[in-house]
Amino acid sequence: MTTLPPNMFAVIQTHDGYSGSATGPFIEDAADWLAEAELPVPEPGPGQVLIKLRTASVNPSDLHFIKGEYGQPRVKGTPAGFEGCGDVVATGTGAEALQGQRVAFVAAGSGAWAEYIVTQALMCIPLRPDISDEDGSAQVINPMTAMAMVDIARGAGDAFVVSAATSQLGKLMCSLGRDLGLKPIAIVRRADAVESLKELGAHEVLVTSDPDMMQKFAALSMELKPRVFLDAVTDQVSEQIFCSMPNGARWVIYGKLSPELPKLTQTGQLIFMGKRIEGFWLTKWMTSTPPADQMRVVGEVQARFADGRWKTDVSERLGLRDVVANLANALKKSDGKVIITP
Ligand SMILES: NC(=O)c1ccc[n+]([C@@H]2O[C@H](COP(=O)([O-])OP(=O)(O)OC[C@H]3O[C@@H](n4cnc5c(N)ncnc54)[C@H](OP(=O)(O)O)[C@@H]3O)[C@@H](O)[C@H]2O)c1
Repeated sequence: MTTLPPNMFAVIQTHDGYSGSATGPFIEDAADWLAEAELPVPEPGPGQVLIKLRTASVNPSDLHFIKGEYGQPRVKGTPAGFEGCGDVVATGTGAEALQGQRVAFVAAGSGAWAEYIVTQALMCIPLRPDISDEDGSAQVINPMTAMAMVDIARGAGDAFVVSAATSQLGKLMCSLGRDLGLKPIAIVRRADAVESLKELGAHEVLVTSDPDMMQKFAALSMELKPRVFLDAVTDQVSEQIFCSMPNGARWVIYGKLSPELPKLTQTGQLIFMGKRIEGFWLTKWMTSTPPADQMRVVGEVQARFADGRWKTDVSERLGLRDVVANLANALKKSDGKVIITP
């Protein structure tokens, strides 16, 4: 049995509840939202585990959350961070099977940006030994979302549209789509990402700064008939893309990378063309998908990371004690995750 220290280092939230605004997953200074603290090591209750952190990843949802613009309220004084990888060092009743296992987890009791984390056993996935700690730290939120959303696209035809395709999730969806014989149409804002995304699996890549982009998209839409738009940007360009899609198209909004609020310019399309606007949230998917189906998805996710079809691109590594001072700077590097280590 591991001897646990009484206290731990943690990066805690300094605000409660919601902010009432939505300025996007960007921060100028982490100290506006976070502080360093020594906290008692939490104790796992029934059905919970205590995890010693190995690695945590920084996702846009973490930034929305600390800024008070996510789907759950902040709790001042509790550690930030949703996702990571670590070792189960203590268990509550009913969770004993996980004792000693290395797991990927979503923090549901206390945040991941701490030396120790309490979460529900149900939010832990035991990791295969051939998966690295860095891949383990980004094993749940984006990969499970990619599997669930490409499944939505698969049910609606060959082609689908993905915005912010240079994001980690966008890349996972392009390669998964290609592997399933689908045609992902990737939308990006950086022209220098076109070739690498094609290599990853995008059938076509369009760049939003190209003045002819909407004409090119309209032609592709006529040819390939994409009926699902998986959108993490949700700005006016997104709305124009949706309007250029065929009858029955679904605009599935799952992120808000742009702070711009789009206007609906062709509401008749909803009435006469059977188009729909909807949301996707992994948390909802997890509570509404039968456990056996989730386990199948978990197995496929780990297989894809283990054999290299998927990987976590890492842009920067930060010590837990450097998060408050250096996170904003670390996030300036594009194309990869910031990984936090204790
Ligand atoms: N609903 C859910 O359940 C769920 C689950 C997981 C993730 N998500 C969402 O999925 C999105 C991607 O997550 P991730 O972890 O893959 O992100 P990520 O790897 O951190 O990448 C985000 C990338 O998006 C691009 N971007 C940022 N602002 C943009 C803008 N205004 N317009 C176009 N592109 C922009 C940037 O790439 P460039 O600099 O290369 O342009 C940035 O690197 C986020 O919005 C996240 O909240 C939602």
